[in-house]
Amino acid sequence: MKTKCPFKKLLKMNPIGQLLAFQNDPYGFFDEHKPKDTEKPVALNLGFRRFFFCYDPRHAQHILQEQRHKYDKSSLVLKKIKALSGSQGLIQLNDERALGVRQTSARLMSAAGMDRLVQKVDAFVKEIFPVIDKSIENREAVDLVPHLTRIVLRTAGVFILNHDLISESDSLNTAFVDLNRKAGESLRSIAQCPFSPAKRRSLSTIHTELDRIAEEVLLVDEPSLLKALATKGEEKDFIRDQLKAFMFAGYDTTASSLIFAMYLVAAHESVQRQIALEVKRMPDLNYESLKKSTLVQSAYKEALRLYPSAYFLPRESNQEDVLSGVKIPKGSQVFLSVRHIQRHPEYFNNPDEFIADRFLNEIKHPFSFIPFGGGPRICIGAMLAKLEATVVLQKLCEHYEMRAAHPAPPEIEALITAHTNTPLLVFFKKREIRAKKSEG
Ligand code: HEM
Repeated sequence: MKTKCPFKKLLKMNPIGQLLAFQNDPYGFFDEHKPKDTEKPVALNLGFRRFFFCYDPRHAQHILQEQRHKYDKSSLVLKKIKALSGSQGLIQLNDERALGVRQTSARLMSAAGMDRLVQKVDAFVKEIFPVIDKSIENREAVDLVPHLTRIVLRTAGVFILNHDLISESDSLNTAFVDLNRKAGESLRSIAQCPFSPAKRRSLSTIHTELDRIAEEVLLVDEPSLLKALATKGEEKDFIRDQLKAFMFAGYDTTASSLIFAMYLVAAHESVQRQIALEVKRMPDLNYESLKKSTLVQSAYKEALRLYPSAYFLPRESNQEDVLSGVKIPKGSQVFLSVRHIQRHPEYFNNPDEFIADRFLNEIKHPFSFIPFGGGPRICIGAMLAKLEATVVLQKLCEHYEMRAAHPAPPEIEALITAHTNTPLLVFFKKREIRAKKSEG
């Protein structure tokens, strides 16, 4: 028989206990403290700081939009990711330089830029087909996680560096993944280790590799974030920090969202069929036709709603505020639980259910769906992530029928963002509908 620890409850109510509980399991912590009525934020002391946990779209609107001047990104979280995102990287910036980087990046996402990326992603997806065909012959399932992750890494490489990161820079990828994991794990420790040889080694590899790639890339006249920043005359260290920030922000988040979207679609045969029919109606694959592929886009949004990779948005108040009648003192940590906001029963019918066409209709509150954040610092790569997911889902549904080998979704490991922790095994079968497309 299990004996109950008499101190457990006491420790839990204690601010240090609360801090440890959050660090140990942030996902569970948000769940545990969710109030029945989400109208007011939940105030708690964690360690020596005052925290407010928010579960309501109205709080998101207040903090990210209406009273945004009262909130900065959380310095606690920014400190944990500084090595990864660069001390001058866009994520860390809070001045007019941020606007400059955002504008440069937005210009790269012109229709022509996006068309080029669509063709790249299309080519990357097609490289998985021989693996899938072999799995059909052998009647085996394919673990899609490494394949989807590679597509995302390669697409990020094209956008950021105009460089195929898979071809040469395995050391860059490994060092990046290592450092990303360490930053995530550091969220779980109270103390910040000032000197970690392993961390420094990873960082040094990332810098050496990025510098080496940059030298080659700048000789070629092809668009990339690197080229655009260099053309603007930005300094080398500043550019390197942006490259790191974009890699950090765009790699894991997109990969995990794609893995969940793939799982959900593989688990819903009729959705696959409808996506395949939608593709059949599209004359060509380009950015314009993607924009018209409303069902696949809705299905991807639904995956982002149920499994947001940025599962919380951390803010810090820079002045006193009042949120739904609750006083928020200056210097408080204010954490928005994106996962709960996006499953709020007042704003979504059957909130835990995957309804692929849910987003074909308007949602009830503009801040009830915030996988990319909101307000002026909303994710600058959202269009790219959507483009990638749309092409990958369309291509796989067009060519194959899929069946998820396990009924449960991949397990989640909640670090700074939510990672998937288990394989995604899928059985494939050739889709008949394709033959009809070429006939008609
Ligand atoms: C599904 C994929 C993605 C998700 C869920 C996601 C989510 C987010 C969120 C929630 C924020 C705002 C964070 C905050 O306000 O605290 C953000 C910011 C950002 N994202 Fe994304 N992101 C994704 C893909 C990408 C991609 C593909 C890129 C670029 C290649 C990217 C680059 C950035 C950058 C640079 C920022 C900082 C913007 C700023 O502070 O001005 N993201 N992202």
